[in-house]
Amino acid sequence: MQDKAVAKLIAAEEKRQSEGLELIPSENYVSSEVRQAMGSIFTNKYSEGFPGKRYYGGQVNTDAVEKLAIDRAKTLFKADHANVQPHSGAPANEAVYHAWMEPGDTIMGMELSHGGHLTHGRPGTISAKLFNFVRYGIDDIETGKIDYAQMRETALKTKPKIILAGFSSYPRELDYAKFAAIGEEVGAVLMADMSHIAGLIAGGVLNNPFDFGFHIMTTTTHKTLRGPRGAMILSRGIVSNPLKPVDKTIDNLPTLIDRSVFPGLQGGPHMHIIAAKAVAFYEAAQPAYKLYCEQVLINAKVLGDELMKLGFKLVTNGTDNHMVLADIQTSFGFDGGVAEKTLDRIGLTLNKNVVPDDPLPPFRPSGVRLGTPAITTRGLKEEHMIKVAQWMHKALKSHNDETELNKLAKEVKQFASEFPLPD
Ligand SMILES: Cc1ncc(COP(=O)(O)O)c(C=O)c1O
Repeated sequence: MQDKAVAKLIAAEEKRQSEGLELIPSENYVSSEVRQAMGSIFTNKYSEGFPGKRYYGGQVNTDAVEKLAIDRAKTLFKADHANVQPHSGAPANEAVYHAWMEPGDTIMGMELSHGGHLTHGRPGTISAKLFNFVRYGIDDIETGKIDYAQMRETALKTKPKIILAGFSSYPRELDYAKFAAIGEEVGAVLMADMSHIAGLIAGGVLNNPFDFGFHIMTTTTHKTLRGPRGAMILSRGIVSNPLKPVDKTIDNLPTLIDRSVFPGLQGGPHMHIIAAKAVAFYEAAQPAYKLYCEQVLINAKVLGDELMKLGFKLVTNGTDNHMVLADIQTSFGFDGGVAEKTLDRIGLTLNKNVVPDDPLPPFRPSGVRLGTPAITTRGLKEEHMIKVAQWMHKALKSHNDETELNKLAKEVKQFASEFPLPD
């Protein structure tokens, strides 16, 4: 590379990723084939529109690759329609809100401190300015069970147009059938933002909301799904793409969503990323990927159990998915920010995170969030989770002891070198 400054930073990042262990549950390591597609010549092409209906010429290959991504996504998730153009998870959610709602309409999402994502109506976001967000949350913090009675009561009172299931920091399975029953009773569209767990759904180890009557699923493609940074919107409905305006019906969801993405929210699709999404969907349909997903869950369970044995207080006392939330303030008497910095120091990367109804502010919250998608891709198994938990425990116990932290950092680096990044 002629640009030495960028080349140096890429090399430094590669070194950082290979010398440490990535525990952030929304991150992963993609295959070299996904990276190859991302770095491909498709980046040169403008393709506004959809396969067969573009605003520019020269679309023979872009049409074929987008069609491939769409077909693979539909098969993987049992959807009637897939829009693979959203640049990322936030615009995918925004596109759905605008496809189905008008400004001022009500949408019901998970309480943010109980696990809901920022795009589910955090004050200050565009969607929070335009739409009225009402909330459901956890009933029992010890088990993590959602308060479905309160959800129903609020839904009956506020008549949301959309009921949104999904989270970025919740370690349990949702009861989609209960969401669906409430949605049907109040006439709401059921939307699942499965950004964190879509890969685990594709791998068949977690439930698919479409099996329970959901109408729309959004997901990022770069988390458990192990594809390029990006997103997609899957839905029920009939794919017809009529030229006339269409009514807001479930059958018309594919048209409403496509129009909301383009020209509603985005311009030209990123065809190199769409090609990489197609590769990731191909990989997720292989038998090896199912085994990977099974191992992600086993690893998370063992990691959670081991942390609890060592005295960590876990939110909901365990996990059903790929992530674990630890209340550091309760376990160690300091906040999650201190834990994040301390663990970074020894090569374990995770993130500080709020815990339900956190008494501390979001920039120094009580907890940390960690997970197993990336380290499982790297090849770590149950026995290694015990080591990770022990390193975390030792580092946090001696977070002011430079000598001990240096010693642990050396151990982690040596261990990580035995698990090279995927080629
Ligand atoms: C549940 C959920 N939705 C949406 C997003 C937003 O995705 P992006 O960062 O790609 O915009 C995230 C990202 O963390 C997420 O966890």
